[in-house]
Amino acid sequence: MTREAYQAQVYLAYASWAEVEGFPGIAAFLYKHMHEEREHMFNFLKFINGRGGKCQIQAIDAPSGDPKDMNDCLQRTLQQEIDNSLCIDAIVNLAHEEKDWATFNFAQWFVREQIEEETLVNNLIDKFGLAAQQPDHANLYALDRDMTSAPQEIAIPRDEKV
Ligand code: FEO
Repeated sequence: MTREAYQAQVYLAYASWAEVEGFPGIAAFLYKHMHEEREHMFNFLKFINGRGGKCQIQAIDAPSGDPKDMNDCLQRTLQQEIDNSLCIDAIVNLAHEEKDWATFNFAQWFVREQIEEETLVNNLIDKFGLAAQQPDHANLYALDRDMTSAPQEIAIPRDEKV
């Protein structure tokens, strides 16, 4: 739960950084994702309390400094999501070991969510890479503009239809 709160802090920090650096569209996308991470935190809280546990609300670590450029920002975002996936995997492994099928079932939603989120960030990295190659940066402007209304959900590769 605290890890998801940390994810939200990182998205907040990167969104604020992107806004100041002149990427309002990417900033808007990251701000929206901050809300999604807070929802994840809340999902954990409700699950723990609802199953007879009691959440301990803990301090959230500060994000580790500004990215050096947008590519660095997106690469660090991807790494955050990969690290988060490993935390979810640890819950799945423990639930399986303990034969705690309620938690195992709960965690499956997050397994899928992490596949989706890694795909989402990977796609953004690809688009940014293509746009940044253009000498006049016109595509970068268009990419940033489009990110303002970009969805937070995406079909994961195994579900895509051709
Ligand atoms: Fe809730 Fe992106 O991890």
